[in-house]
Amino acid sequence: MESRTGEGGSVDLDGTRLEEMSPEPLLTRDYETRPSLVYERLRQRHGPVAPVDLLGVPAWLVLGYREAFDVLQDDDGWPKGLERWRARSEGRVPGDWPLGPSLEVNHVLIQGGPGYQPLRTAWDMALKPFQDPRHPQAKRLKAAVTAYADELITLVGQAGGTGLADLSAQFARPLPLMVASHLLGFPGSQGDDALMDMWRVLDAGPDAEPALERLLATLAELAAAKREKPGDDFPSYLLAAHPDLSLDELARELFMLLGMTSDHVGILVSNTVVEVISGEGGVRASLSAGLVRESMNRVVMRKPPLVNFVPRFAAKDTPLGNYTIREGDPVWVSSAAAHADPLFSDNVCPSTTVSTRAHLSWGAGRRQCPARELASTVAAVGVGRLFERFSHLDLALPVDQLPWRSSPFMRGLRSLPVRYELSPVPERRRAPDAAPETAETVIPDPSARQRSSLWRYLTELIRVGR
Ligand code: HEM
Repeated sequence: MESRTGEGGSVDLDGTRLEEMSPEPLLTRDYETRPSLVYERLRQRHGPVAPVDLLGVPAWLVLGYREAFDVLQDDDGWPKGLERWRARSEGRVPGDWPLGPSLEVNHVLIQGGPGYQPLRTAWDMALKPFQDPRHPQAKRLKAAVTAYADELITLVGQAGGTGLADLSAQFARPLPLMVASHLLGFPGSQGDDALMDMWRVLDAGPDAEPALERLLATLAELAAAKREKPGDDFPSYLLAAHPDLSLDELARELFMLLGMTSDHVGILVSNTVVEVISGEGGVRASLSAGLVRESMNRVVMRKPPLVNFVPRFAAKDTPLGNYTIREGDPVWVSSAAAHADPLFSDNVCPSTTVSTRAHLSWGAGRRQCPARELASTVAAVGVGRLFERFSHLDLALPVDQLPWRSSPFMRGLRSLPVRYELSPVPERRRAPDAAPETAETVIPDPSARQRSSLWRYLTELIRVGR
């Protein structure tokens, strides 16, 4: 057996198989509180690729920037698709593995094989109207985000012109949910009640399972309605681009859109707010110069919302880092660890507001995020609106005491407590380049909104906060 001295130790090159290694658990208390320490420890011990235990299932974690980039660029050598997972086909992945439910829903993010490419092409086509700045749908989306942000800020302000608020629960989480409802083409606020189930699913509490059932049933109904009567919305565009999709398949893609939008965009909004309030380089002072988006780019690089990507599998025995990865072994690329690799971090100047384009926060290669522009626009418009409507916004806790929540896939703030002061005159502003639409056209029935369970929940937060 050959051995090589990696960064911090001598490791086996070919001898040991993943299933024989009893690797250390990744998801420890340290991972929750100081993930960078965990990544560094693994890097010291194993080099750029480390065996880890993911809640009882062994996997390879890619920590090195170069190795992560290589895996993401080489979709033939490291394809997705759970059917390639040797341990799973040999019955070594427990039926009740906690990560099973999120990976076994077969949608575009997880899927490999021949069905993937037509599906990805359809996604690109269906998202295009929302992402092409000249398209009326993109302008309408900006108008909608502006109007939703204004609604939420006005609701926060009902507790008084100055006060305390949790901008995660009261702004960063609900805003993307409202945007998802808009993209999905739910009439009025009708979707709000069902969409709140997405939070129950993401929070993985005791009511997660019935919430998932209700949500999938609602999305299946929506899929059927859009097939029957197409509209100007994502489900109808996806069906037009991929007419062979069954209603069940369409519902799964809508579930994927909802999950990505509500969780990841919410995390990006919160992180950008923190960066602007506490950021180095006087970012807040330069906000009027239109640097919200640049701060957001910097945040997405320094604190990637998706910290570990969904698994890929070695197509054949392949050396990576200091190990040989066997055909069918699962490989998880960690963007958070790759960004902490000195090869990457030493080349990014932390004080600059100009971000590098080499980061992996949106993925890389042909499976890169297709919704980058959409997600960035929603976050930038929402955060921009916050800093226009609030004349003062300060963290109510020191930045290093803000509470974080981590899952195997994402890392975001649990809450974002702030002290605020509203600007004296709440001017109603159209988003730059937005269609000449009014809040009334994007929020057609405000009274229905007030009856929705999302609104009742948000109103309750104000009452409790008083
Ligand atoms: C801040 C928000 C977001 C971040 C940071 C993000 C990040 C990512 C990353 C890193 C990947 C690649 C994962 C991998 O290679 O395994 C990805 C894929 C994907 N994202 Fe996003 N995303 C965000 C928002 C969204 C939204 C809002 C949507 C939908 C509207 C979306 C749709 C997708 C899809 C469909 C894929 C799969 C692409 C493929 O496998 O071909 N993302 N995203």
